[in-house]
Amino acid sequence: KPYVVIMAGGIGSRFWPYSRNNHPKQFLDILGTGRTLLQMTFDRFVQISDPDRFFVVTNDSYFDLVKEQLPEMPEDHILTEPMRRNTAACIAFASYKIKKLDPEARVVVTPADHLILKDEKFQLRVNDALDAADENERLVTIGIKPNRPETGYGYIQFMTDTNGVAKKVKTFTEKPNLNLAKTFVESGDFVWNSGMFVWKNSSILKAFEKYMPELAEVFEEGEGFFYTDQEQEFIKRAYSLVKNISIDYGVMEKSENVFVVLGDFGWSDLGSWMSLHELQPHDDKNNVVEGNALLYDTSNSFVKVNSDKLVVVQGLDNYLITEADNVLLICKLDAEKKFREFVSDAKSRG
Ligand code: GDD
Ligand code: MG
Repeated sequence: KPYVVIMAGGIGSRFWPYSRNNHPKQFLDILGTGRTLLQMTFDRFVQISDPDRFFVVTNDSYFDLVKEQLPEMPEDHILTEPMRRNTAACIAFASYKIKKLDPEARVVVTPADHLILKDEKFQLRVNDALDAADENERLVTIGIKPNRPETGYGYIQFMTDTNGVAKKVKTFTEKPNLNLAKTFVESGDFVWNSGMFVWKNSSILKAFEKYMPELAEVFEEGEGFFYTDQEQEFIKRAYSLVKNISIDYGVMEKSENVFVVLGDFGWSDLGSWMSLHELQPHDDKNNVVEGNALLYDTSNSFVKVNSDKLVVVQGLDNYLITEADNVLLICKLDAEKKFREFVSDAKSRG
């Protein structure tokens, strides 16, 4: 059975104000199913592995949240980071921990905040990826057929003529600009990187040594501290030394040994209010309404409120109306690019 590494340290600012710094989207029941995205991720992988093979890597400040939300998992499998150093460091941390437990380990790395609709298909594809990863030192990703030139994703160009379920990857381009993204989508031989990775633990460790030698060196020097009471102190030091870079830029773009398994399991990275709007049940004017609201002459809008207040809306098209704590947000539903600004300006208002 594979080890499962859940990356759960991101901040998810695009769901503001619903997700705050102290409560990013992976810890929210964003779909109203009774399970948070982190718990849904756990539920999905518990079908293919055991809770004591799970690791969740997250920020120090989210330790209690993870512990509370995943009581099935051993507490010492929650790996906490003293600061955010992006996914390369996060994956290295887990990989070096796993190395000590089991040098032969096979690992699935997954984000904590995605939605997958077809669980059974998903499990099949993960098993395909695990099989593919057994050969050589392959780094296997799971690719998703794109339907728009989204610039927030990685794009994978694969060799269409490869035999077998895993296709050899020609190029991996993380977060291209819009023009490039358009070209990629039109060309037809690109898929999105789903952000899930499958490999033998030894393969990713070798890749770190090759493509991110400084990172590998920091962790190799500290290997002796793992599973001792000096581990935390070491991690603090390590994180102050390592670069802030994602696995996509740090390894995947550089490696020549990347393979992709195509996923067909109803994937969404739930990256924005817009993507959530698309997925939820709509009324006949394409509105999604959660909470107590009355809509008149309103279309393509998303109202998500949870106070007792009745919200009355008239004459809006393509709007988001949502509130959380002490913030009421009314903006265009597609105002994604403005969210960074909202969050930082709101912070300065206290
Ligand atoms: N522990 C930890 N520490 N986790 C982190 C950190 C960190 O410093 N930074 C991000 N994460 C977690 C996030 O919580 C999320 O679950 C996952 O790692 C991916 O990080 P994102 O910040 O959401 O990455 P992205 O969405 O910009 O891009 C990645 O995902 C896309 C698909 O959703 C890339 O892999 C893209 O290539 C990919 O297309
Ligand atoms: Mg993401």
